[in-house]
Amino acid sequence: MCGIIGYTGHRNVQEVILKALETLEYRGYDSAGMALAYADGALEVAKRAGKVAKLRAMCEKQSAGSGKKAAVSGIGHTRWATHGGVTDENAHPHTCGRVTLVHNGIIENYQELTAKYGLGEKLVSQTDTEVVAALLDHFYEKDAKTAIREVARLLKGTFALGILFADQPEKLYAIRNVSPIIAGVGKDGREAFLASDVTALSEYVAEYFVVPEDTLTILEAGKITLLDNENQRVEPDFLQVDWKLGGNGKNGYEFFMEKEIAEQPEVIRETISCRCKDGMPDLSIDNIPDWLLSKYERITIIGCGTAMHAGLVAKQFMQPLLQLPVTVEVASEFIYEEPVVDDKTFVIAISQSGETIDTLEALRYARRRGAGNLSIVNVKGSTIARESEYVLYTNAGPEIAVASTKAYTTQLTALYMIICRMAYVRGVYTAKQAKEFVSALLQVPACVEKVIADKESLRRISHEIMDASDVFMIGRGLDYTALLEGSLKLKEISYIHSEAYASGELKHGTIALITQKTPVITLVTQTKVVSKELSNAIEVKARGAKVYVLTSEKVELEEPGQWENVYRLPALRDEFMVFPAAAALQLIAFYVSRDKGLDVDKPRNLAKVVTVE
Ligand code: F6R
Repeated sequence: MCGIIGYTGHRNVQEVILKALETLEYRGYDSAGMALAYADGALEVAKRAGKVAKLRAMCEKQSAGSGKKAAVSGIGHTRWATHGGVTDENAHPHTCGRVTLVHNGIIENYQELTAKYGLGEKLVSQTDTEVVAALLDHFYEKDAKTAIREVARLLKGTFALGILFADQPEKLYAIRNVSPIIAGVGKDGREAFLASDVTALSEYVAEYFVVPEDTLTILEAGKITLLDNENQRVEPDFLQVDWKLGGNGKNGYEFFMEKEIAEQPEVIRETISCRCKDGMPDLSIDNIPDWLLSKYERITIIGCGTAMHAGLVAKQFMQPLLQLPVTVEVASEFIYEEPVVDDKTFVIAISQSGETIDTLEALRYARRRGAGNLSIVNVKGSTIARESEYVLYTNAGPEIAVASTKAYTTQLTALYMIICRMAYVRGVYTAKQAKEFVSALLQVPACVEKVIADKESLRRISHEIMDASDVFMIGRGLDYTALLEGSLKLKEISYIHSEAYASGELKHGTIALITQKTPVITLVTQTKVVSKELSNAIEVKARGAKVYVLTSEKVELEEPGQWENVYRLPALRDEFMVFPAAAALQLIAFYVSRDKGLDVDKPRNLAKVVTVE
């Protein structure tokens, strides 16, 4: 949550910051702001509530024809509000005396610190962040390093801070605890950058590093110095930039979400093929040993939102196949439930960003109790990746739309590859069965392509439901778990209330909500429950619901005449039907949102990376 950028160098600082904020906006879009530092010690702050486009308009208006000298460095921020409402005042950067800073995270003891150091009179906003600026100004005498260390020691909570001192305009300082921040020197060796994630820097740097926690980072044009608490230099671990956004990154699409839906066949294929050797699932590219997959007695999958939904789908297949108890836990609830987690438990944490604090805390809890662990992560070098015992990186590439699409389907792909290898090393699958499984999984990309090619049919469904106030999605088993994700997509980007329900459970209460013309989407792809799913659909139809049957080409519908709205998904093995279903449900949600004129990529109240509990 919140995006940070810092720059020092020879380019037009304002433009570098605005462009980076446009890229980072998916991390939060309640307000945006920047501070520019000039060689003579002058500092300018521009900030306002609303999206980066508003900030750009404001800055361009201010700088038009001003003939000002060039700034030498700057910091910028795009905010997802936590403490203090969405106002111009609460937008970052925050300045106090000689200090201006941007912050991602939450300072839990900001009220206590305000009282202890008598900072109240200096504060003009309602944020926790401004207290850090005031504290730094309080402790800053001559040495910025000492002041930053002093203040960092006092802070409780999570923080990534980018700091400018008015009397050192060519330098930027950074320090972090939990919240992410990366840094890199520009390709030409004459500039240096700081950012919340690599998408903002891919144009400028060839390599970057994750700023280590509690390490003071000093950026100067062409040079970055890392110092530990004893002022000893720390050598960073460099990562190569392998994500390129290019242009505005949308590749001709109007929205990132549409582009990311369309990328799924390719990224699913990549996620499989780099883990496939002579037709067998092979996780050696991730350094995942077979003993890890055969050792444990039970499996716990943790994640939030979409990532957790991927876990629920996997459980449907994993538990019966491996005959191991599998639980899927909402990460934010996990540690409070006193779960049974010990050295016999294998914990699979799933996270696109690798920064979700709830998932991170749940993972830390499980590892403290001796659980074995493998995490499925998309962002390299992210906190969850670094704190995991083993990591399998999905090959989704940058996912910018807030609503997750290709991250979900690559998480599923990764889970299926893991399950297949597990089945093989545990003697559940023969080599022949494992190969058959992988070869069937390799048919998924072409199948998803077909669904995407047929998007106009899905758009017709979206037009029929777009004015509804409620949409129900019903199914059983794997279909139900796939619908949980479909329903989340619809509600988060279209703002239509939607619920996914296990269809057998409806008559225990929820069916009371079905009235004339309530749209109900039923997913019917699992051979063992087809007839049960259809009879549950008949029950809602009898109560006046308008039923849409999403089914596979191979399912035979009894009395097909009774179903007015049938959409056929290309057929695959039952356990893989979640892929075409996901693409279809993503597209339905996408068209509802787009055709309602909503901001598909930046739905209200949300942010892409959730680093608060
Ligand atoms: C919904 C969505 C969220 C995320 C969740 C976890 O479209 O994207 O539900 O899946 O916030 O995020 P990660 O995977 O980054 O841990």
